[in-house]
Amino acid sequence: LEQNREAWSGRTVFILAAIGSAVGLGNIWRFPYVAYTNGGGAFIIPYLVALLTAGIPLLFLDYAIGHKFRGSPPLAFRRIHKRAEFIGWWQVGICFVIGVYYAVIIAWAIRYFFFSFNEAWGEDPATFFTTDFLKQDSESTFGLDFVPGVALPLLLIWIITLVILALGVQKGIGASARFFVPLLIVLFAILVVRALFLEGAGAGLDAFFRPNWSALMDTGVWIAAYGQIFFSLSVAFGIMITYSSYLKHKTNLTGSGLVVGFTNSSFEILAGIGVFATLGYMANISGVAVDEVVESGIGLAFIAFPAIISSMPGGPLFGVLFFASLVFAGFTSLISIIQVCVAAVQDKLGIGRVPAVLGVGGAATVVSLLLFPTATGLNLLDIVDNFANNIGIVGVALVAIVAVTWALRRLPDMQDHLNSVSSFKVGVIWRLFIGVITPVVLAYMLISEIIDRVREGYGGLPDGLVTIFGWLAQTLVIVVAVLLSFTPWRRSDEELEH
Ligand code: PHE
Ligand code: NA
Repeated sequence: LEQNREAWSGRTVFILAAIGSAVGLGNIWRFPYVAYTNGGGAFIIPYLVALLTAGIPLLFLDYAIGHKFRGSPPLAFRRIHKRAEFIGWWQVGICFVIGVYYAVIIAWAIRYFFFSFNEAWGEDPATFFTTDFLKQDSESTFGLDFVPGVALPLLLIWIITLVILALGVQKGIGASARFFVPLLIVLFAILVVRALFLEGAGAGLDAFFRPNWSALMDTGVWIAAYGQIFFSLSVAFGIMITYSSYLKHKTNLTGSGLVVGFTNSSFEILAGIGVFATLGYMANISGVAVDEVVESGIGLAFIAFPAIISSMPGGPLFGVLFFASLVFAGFTSLISIIQVCVAAVQDKLGIGRVPAVLGVGGAATVVSLLLFPTATGLNLLDIVDNFANNIGIVGVALVAIVAVTWALRRLPDMQDHLNSVSSFKVGVIWRLFIGVITPVVLAYMLISEIIDRVREGYGGLPDGLVTIFGWLAQTLVIVVAVLLSFTPWRRSDEELEH
């Protein structure tokens, strides 16, 4: 089986795939807002500190685990220690949960790509989004009434994703990264340049970069920086372990990590510039200050941007570029996250790629289609997203890091492994960042988030929904992960041992 393990043709294609995974919706609609609300120009300091003390060190750790133990997360953790297998399944479970709703956002963006041509959202993009397009019904608590306008593009995105995964690591994932990542960079660069020439762009950039130095004294700002880095690099929840397990034995791991880490951050800053130049234009035509038009996430992409597009000369082209960028950025991330699940099932059951894609990808497709193109889909998505990102990935990252560093004491091994193949060597500082700084920050984030959610619920949404799709869903992932770790492997003991 090991001889049959798939492989990237080289380091470049791996780097492109890893960039495709890292550069996602978070870069485009999350970073600009997080930076703006946490000190503006001054945010660059905590952000760089987080990148250098946690993001890149964790990227190295993921690469070391995947490359040394050559497996999807359950197999890699099983090879680290029998008892650690459940951590791998927990990561797989979180990837499954994220994939199931991430695809939905891409489906919306596909529709909005087409809506851009004739500005189909009309005069009131907010009502259009929730009522006309998503058909959200605030009266119904939980209904499975189908919304075909979302379900059809969603089905399409799943079919394309599964076909690419079925084509394999090199011919599917690698080839699509080679195509989509450069395309995304070109489209997005055009978009940003166009935005810079809008009237008011300067005021937008000014608002974005204006440094609020006192923010540096605020712990919340530092936590926000670490949170953005963990989320943005998608470290410590299995994706990078999976992708690096397909690298050839002699591969410069840390060199690749540096390229991926800095490219992702550059894209983020580029997005900040593009988004704030555009918001500056909006503020200008509405005659208000920039801070009155600042938004993030779904509201920014599907409500604020459509409004801006409608008011802009050449708006349809701008909209097409923007939504195409969202689709491509999200799509390569979706591929990476579902591949984690596919690889885990392949490793555990010793089955081929195609049956694994059909099984686990088919399951994700069904769950995604049943839950989200519905009258309550938007609220469900909001809850699942919040719990997966602020509790799920933070929790599993903490457990994985503490297990590897402290419980199993494998960090020196990982260091040796990295240094035996890489150009950029790591040492005691790397071990300090991974073993001490990162777990402290993650533990703080996790505990404060749990306290807030217990005290306040989430987003004013019904407690029943929050309990089921937030707390219960995340708990279920852990329970299933533990159960799966007790099921037998369909491979010989020697193969299991490495
Ligand atoms: N890192 C991605 C981003 O910045 C998010 C992501 C989530 C990627 C899930 C893969 C999987 O948007
Ligand atoms: Na990112």
